[in-house]
Amino acid sequence: MDLDDRCYELAFPGATDLTYPHLAELVTGRLLNNVGDPFQPGHGRSHTKDAEVQVVRWLGALFGAGDDVWGYVAGGATEGTLHAVDEAVTAHPDVMVYASAAAHYSIAKAAHLVRAPLVRVATDDDDRMSLDDLRARLRAGSGRAAMIVATVGTTEREAVDDVAGIAGLCDDLGITRRRIHVDAALAGVPRALLPDGTPGFGFRAGATSLVVSGHKFLSTLTPCAVILYPRRPAAQSREQISYIGTADTTISGSRSGHTPLLLAASLLGQGRGGHRRRAQRSRDLAAYTYDALCRIGWPAQRLPDAFTITLAQPDRLPRPWMLGGDERTGRIICMPGVDQAWVAELVSDLEARLRGRIHVPAPRPRRIESSGAGRDRG
Ligand SMILES: Cc1ncc(COP(=O)(O)O)c(C=O)c1O
Repeated sequence: MDLDDRCYELAFPGATDLTYPHLAELVTGRLLNNVGDPFQPGHGRSHTKDAEVQVVRWLGALFGAGDDVWGYVAGGATEGTLHAVDEAVTAHPDVMVYASAAAHYSIAKAAHLVRAPLVRVATDDDDRMSLDDLRARLRAGSGRAAMIVATVGTTEREAVDDVAGIAGLCDDLGITRRRIHVDAALAGVPRALLPDGTPGFGFRAGATSLVVSGHKFLSTLTPCAVILYPRRPAAQSREQISYIGTADTTISGSRSGHTPLLLAASLLGQGRGGHRRRAQRSRDLAAYTYDALCRIGWPAQRLPDAFTITLAQPDRLPRPWMLGGDERTGRIICMPGVDQAWVAELVSDLEARLRGRIHVPAPRPRRIESSGAGRDRG
């Protein structure tokens, strides 16, 4: 692993600007295991459930939950979504999972693991879930319970699905046996902190669960996520496991006690104001990046407020830039920690490439085909 190559990796959404030297002794010198329910201390003493509950409450409040919020720190967003899908299938065994064609592959994996049918919903030109197509597919669902997974920040273009619109559509169609899970792994926190106030995708908009990553915007530097519910899911087992002294309400057994410390340090250390400023700096850098690409004539796209810029995938650049994507489209994600100077160097390499009159294909607009019901693993 060559750590000096970090500046060339512009396609992955892991913030790196916050570090936690004051936690080094705890994180590297103590066994900390948050096994079992975070709201029940259990038999063990070597855990950080107090920090975990603080994190759940902090994020719950941000997304519009009240005092009854329940959730836990998971190993990643995939685990959080699996928890939500499992909760849905426990409450409604006939549930069908609906996710857009731009949703992360973890949704298909979660549906597959609980053996729930997955229905793909088409997207519009900006990669948002098409409410017209969702309406048609829900109608075709013939009375079965529905779990719609909305994405707040799709992996490729950072599109934001309309959670309030999805909830309204379910109301129109009389779908009361429903869940609306929000995969806000990528952009939940920065979007919730936009200056215009209450997030349009949180619990007040109709979400019934929401997952947000720690190692993306929050810069925990090690993978983790927080799954949140406005209240403890009703169908959850209350049985106390005598070995651990708590109920077994999470997907994994033993869970990291270190990641709640990192999350608490990020959330409480920065506060809403600090995170809002970090988000604004990233948006400013994204605007700079997009403008710089347009100025040199390199095909690029950016959705409103996004940290993500998609661009025509270059080949054979003088330096080893890693822009992800496929052979046609790459991306730059201006996460906190990305330096404007790195972007400027990339743009100058791209400009040199253009001057060399080397053919660069235009990005293909992301047309999503709707694929119907089935166990598509995406
Ligand atoms: C929108 C979205 N959902 C889910 C995930 C999965 O997160 P994890 O790898 O932490 O399970 C990602 C990761 O990139 C993502 O961008």
